[in-house]
Amino acid sequence: MRIGMVGTGYVGLVSGTCFAEFGIDVVCVDKDATKIERLKKGDVPIFEPGLEDLLDRQIKAGRIHFTTNLDEAVKGADAVFIAVGTPPRQSDGHADLSYVYQAAKEIAACMDGYTVVVTKSTVPVGTAREVEQIIRDTKPDAEFDVASNPEFLREGAAVNDFMRPDRVVIGTSSERAQKVLREVYRPLFLNETPIVFTKRETSEMTKYAANAFLATKITFINEIADLCEKAGADVQDVARAIGLDGRIGSKFLHAGPGYGGSCFPKDTLALTQTGQAMGAPQRIVETVVQVNADRQKQMASRIIAACGGDVKGKRIGVLGVAFKPNTDDVRDAPSLVILPLLQEAGAHIAAYDPEAMEQARLFLTDIDWKDEAYQVAENADVLVILTEWNEFRALDLARIGESMKEKRLVDLRNIYKLEDMKELGFHYVSIGRPDLLPESKPVLKEVTGQ
Ligand code: UGA
Repeated sequence: MRIGMVGTGYVGLVSGTCFAEFGIDVVCVDKDATKIERLKKGDVPIFEPGLEDLLDRQIKAGRIHFTTNLDEAVKGADAVFIAVGTPPRQSDGHADLSYVYQAAKEIAACMDGYTVVVTKSTVPVGTAREVEQIIRDTKPDAEFDVASNPEFLREGAAVNDFMRPDRVVIGTSSERAQKVLREVYRPLFLNETPIVFTKRETSEMTKYAANAFLATKITFINEIADLCEKAGADVQDVARAIGLDGRIGSKFLHAGPGYGGSCFPKDTLALTQTGQAMGAPQRIVETVVQVNADRQKQMASRIIAACGGDVKGKRIGVLGVAFKPNTDDVRDAPSLVILPLLQEAGAHIAAYDPEAMEQARLFLTDIDWKDEAYQVAENADVLVILTEWNEFRALDLARIGESMKEKRLVDLRNIYKLEDMKELGFHYVSIGRPDLLPESKPVLKEVTGQ
């Protein structure tokens, strides 16, 4: 078995490396020559736990190769995966498919025998059909099928998600293509991973429906959290109790500052636009998009309120800027909305993130970047937890409290226990739980509109 992987971003690199681990010969191609040179040496340009070791093994075993020459990836390949970027278009937010279509054209020119061309990037319904047309127009005598095989991996857990997926979705009605892709995913067939064969349109829609549903689940619990604060309830207990209902499920019910990342914001927006364009508006998801955007802004107000309504000249320490732990990715991270709003309100910000500071520097200005969490807390009027990295869960809070100007903690990820915070005497504000004011018993939030 031999496959070509076009694009070495998150999806392409993780998929290519994992397919090599399945025992397949993989040729990864990218236009970025510097990146390819790095990858040839096993130097992974993204932070993804476990990926570098796995890639190193595949390079040593000679099962994976990197090139800038598309011909090498396509000639002789049983399947060629398109895993190039589909960023939102500046003009209207629609997924920009120009890289996918360009890749299709170039692949067509290189094909030399029956090839299954597979769209792995997240692409709107109808893209596989369009790719087929492009290939046919470019090379009318080509022998090929186009299939859709969306990827469901999460950043930070990508290798595990690829190796042990909940399901694999393959969209094609060609038996020949099915046979090839069944062979590509043979190790997963053997360990009885559910593989859903379906139409291409269904496969494409599944990816958007999955991400939109998860984004909706998060947004739902975030709004319940707001209500819990007013009602004196605890959202964590609510989430646990409803999550024990098998029909609801416990995952993706952690209330927080709103979802971010390179997928949920982009895919929810794209789904609403497809809905509008096709005359089937997705009103729930449209609301989710709006509620989530508002929420990120409200988080800044919540921090300001915790400081008594004014942060002018105050020092705010921020722990975590990545959109979630175990990644250096800050794309659409809540930090990119919240921190500038705090700066606008006159605050000085010191921040630390274990992996994402280099990326965050490209988008955030005037931040006093620190080397570790304790430095961030020094002399701070308030400390804000924005990303739930494990290292923030086990901080010496007594030490932190002593070094701060005010013992004030805004925990937007609910990583600490109310009892512990009370014991330590913090003014502690979290999500969907009662605020703890210094020297007091838990009381209901007084600030409205949060
Ligand atoms: C998401 C999906 O989970 C993957 O299945 C999908 O393949 C991927 O998008 C994609 O389309 O490529 P990812 O963006 O890496 O993966 O991150 P998630 O772990 O899903 O988290 C997304 C956001 O939701 C983060 O900002 C996270 O903090 C937030 N979140 C997640 C919550 O606020 N609460 C939760 O309970 C879970």
